[in-house]
Amino acid sequence: MNPLPRTIEWVGDLPGHVRLIDQTLLPTSLEYRDCHTVEQVWEAIKLLRVRGAPAIGVAAAMGVVVGVQRHTGAGTFAHRLHEVADYLRTSRPTAVNLFWAIDRVLRRIESRLHNSPPEILARLLLEEALTIETEDRAMCLAIGLAGASLIGEGQGVLTHCNAGGLATAAYGTAIAVMYAAAEQGKRFSVYADETRPLLQGARLTTWELMQADIDVTLICDNMAAQVMREGRVQLVIVGADRIAANGDTANKIGTYGVAVLAKAHGIPFYVAAPSSTFDLSIRDGSAIPIEQRDPREITHAFGKATAPDGVRVYNPAFDVTPAELIAGIITEKGVIAPVNERLIRERLSFVSEPRTK
Ligand code: MRU
Repeated sequence: MNPLPRTIEWVGDLPGHVRLIDQTLLPTSLEYRDCHTVEQVWEAIKLLRVRGAPAIGVAAAMGVVVGVQRHTGAGTFAHRLHEVADYLRTSRPTAVNLFWAIDRVLRRIESRLHNSPPEILARLLLEEALTIETEDRAMCLAIGLAGASLIGEGQGVLTHCNAGGLATAAYGTAIAVMYAAAEQGKRFSVYADETRPLLQGARLTTWELMQADIDVTLICDNMAAQVMREGRVQLVIVGADRIAANGDTANKIGTYGVAVLAKAHGIPFYVAAPSSTFDLSIRDGSAIPIEQRDPREITHAFGKATAPDGVRVYNPAFDVTPAELIAGIITEKGVIAPVNERLIRERLSFVSEPRTK
């Protein structure tokens, strides 16, 4: 698979910094943003300069390193570490990868926190953050291979939001499946929902697929039903931000509606996600925190007023698709189908760990 330019990377040694593609500028401009402070990493996550659950996880892990790497004085390193971790946890609430990645880097130094010098601790944190990034690439490749056979020759595949290389360390999840199928020589066409209000589908998914020479057609979100009725779509694949133990899946707002439409038209609806997106500490989707975002994303998206001043706005960034609407979850460990708690636990061999948030 041909990866895009690096979504996110660590630059230099220690001290170093985070470099990420500023996804708010795509598709008109491909620019990198360097984050030298934890505040800059927090802002990049909050404003969706870096976005997509796995990419947010990598950014948060590297953000921890940025936040502590210049800290000297062994006594207060632990205090600073927890301050930085707690701060990064406030950037976005829904994608569990963020909390998973922060917990993971903290665990790496837990036993040495009070008896090792700061330079050693910072190096171990960086090692762990880089491992998360490397593992994410490998998981996305495996997801692509696990799901490729689901795409049949000549089919139409609909996706929502962007679950591509930009949303992960590389390749993506839902889009990794498309990359893998294309690499196997299959011909198929993709319908990309534009994904209101921030247009991740229009700005990012089409951009990625066009670079990979995969046939893609952009549609407005409210066209999906008509496109399905016309028989243009035989499969839906989307990504995920958090999957509860029973398989209920939070993903970009609008995903639930697509799942309902797919059900009504007899079209299989698949979720593609790495094991880092599962949150087995919660039983079902009702416990998934849904991010509420700035009303101006709806009333003034991309700088132009599209609604009267002062109008009341509701802007949840995610919704939850119930497990019963999901035909299968494509993971790096294979496809989980049917979707239920027993099979999820069995396939992932997860020991449920309590999350910090
Ligand atoms: O608000 P965003 O752009 O971060 O939302 C992203 C999504 O909903 C993706 O579908 C999800 O994170 C999966 S990315 C592999």
